[in-house]
Amino acid sequence: MDSNVDESARPTVNIEIGLLLEAVNEKYGYDFRDYAKAYLKRRLLRRVKMSGLQSISELQHKVLHDAEFFELMVQDLSIHVTEMFRDPSFFRAFRKEVVPVLHTYPTVKVWHAGCSSGEEVYSMAILLKEEGLYDRALIYATDLSETILESAKNAIIPLGRMRQYSVNYQKAGGQHSLSEYYAAHHDSVVLDRGLRENIVFAAHNLVSDSVFGEMQVVICRNVVIYFTRALQRHVFETFRASLCRRGFLCLGSKETLSFWPGEDGFEQVVPGEKIFRKRK
Ligand SMILES: C[S@@+](CC[C@H](N)C(=O)[O-])C[C@H]1O[C@@H](n2cnc3c(N)ncnc32)[C@H](O)[C@@H]1O
Repeated sequence: MDSNVDESARPTVNIEIGLLLEAVNEKYGYDFRDYAKAYLKRRLLRRVKMSGLQSISELQHKVLHDAEFFELMVQDLSIHVTEMFRDPSFFRAFRKEVVPVLHTYPTVKVWHAGCSSGEEVYSMAILLKEEGLYDRALIYATDLSETILESAKNAIIPLGRMRQYSVNYQKAGGQHSLSEYYAAHHDSVVLDRGLRENIVFAAHNLVSDSVFGEMQVVICRNVVIYFTRALQRHVFETFRASLCRRGFLCLGSKETLSFWPGEDGFEQVVPGEKIFRKRK
């Protein structure tokens, strides 16, 4: 166990976590009660340890009386790991199988739910530009965390990451050199401002906020993996309601629709890739 809370106190820890989550929901309106239990415990006990506290109850006291500390807890419960052209085969398949269908629409609306610091969104913007679709596209990029959305808007990426991203881009079927889409500075790069023109960044909580209407594509990768099955079902209902007829739903490589009764309403577009299409 990665904390100073002793092993024999485990059941108490579970009770304390339950109380903390109720209290946070009551006070701040953020509902983490349906996040995966093991994940919550790991992340919260890490914060207990890092802040020199003795228990989750002490953490609860601080969270309730100190809004800045609460923000820290939100950060703790949001894993922001992301990459440009993450899982390149996904982007390659999207280019090959989804793009031709998108060409049949006069306008294309794409929703990236849980966009983190924006690398996935800018990757899609580049892909749509290269496929001649960007000018008629509107991309909604949402996340629970306002802080991470600010860095997404800034579109600044540490220079050291670009080598890997260039490899990903090529594997994803990129048509140029990734360096055409950014300006390098001392130790970071700034992505081309033109990529941002048709992107709207907004805070949106998948637990409690409502649907986005008439999307041709919903992309939510590596987000629901942190949720219980019950919450995943709720989120999938939101996506189904947000998609237009025959719209596409894209999930992360470890995520599945298989336990959800609504799965029948979708077909898998490419074997091995988590790209699904509404049957009607
Ligand atoms: C691991 S990142 C995934 C980023 C990107 N989709 C990718 O695959 O590279 C997960 C993101 O989901 C966001 N998130 C977690 N819970 C959320 C919720 N309830 N509503 C919206 N976003 C949430 C986190 O803030 C985080 O930025």
